[in-house]
Amino acid sequence: MKNIILIGFMGSGKSTLGKKLAKKLNCRFIDSDMEIEALERMPVAEIFETKGEDYFRQCEKELLHSIRSESQFVLSTGGGMPCFGDNMEKIKTLGTTFYLYLSPKELTKRIRNAKTVRPLAQNKSEEELLIYIEKLLASRGFFYSQADYTLKGKEQQVNCILELAD
Ligand code: S3P
Repeated sequence: MKNIILIGFMGSGKSTLGKKLAKKLNCRFIDSDMEIEALERMPVAEIFETKGEDYFRQCEKELLHSIRSESQFVLSTGGGMPCFGDNMEKIKTLGTTFYLYLSPKELTKRIRNAKTVRPLAQNKSEEELLIYIEKLLASRGFFYSQADYTLKGKEQQVNCILELAD
């Protein structure tokens, strides 16, 4: 089976699902945000605050290019990773790509209830967050839709993904 790469908006559940898939396949799990946090020795929110978003995007690009496919892996990407530079092209060379689609309303609810601090979604009322997500999702859709599979609802389960994976 090829490597599995999960992409999608923040709050769509990539990390949780990626971890479950890797466990089921007994393979390496790579979470891009966690890798960058370990390399930079600070949380993503702090990288944004102290070094800026451009620096974080550079970290994402470098991480992506450092991934070797010697052994099988499941990669959960940060929500913005596929949407900068030629990252999506690179991601597609690594394995089968799955876009976890959730509606802006569902994403708003999940992001507001999450423990993770997401710098791009901070300090916004529920209404502002919904409008922000609608706009950002519309512009990112171009990249996300290049995934091999777009999964909605029940399709976003371990067994469904394993059936689809090449
Ligand atoms: C981001 C998503 C986050 C993280 C950073 C930026 C984005 O990852 O990489 O806060 O641009 O959408 P998650 O998708 O895991 O929340």
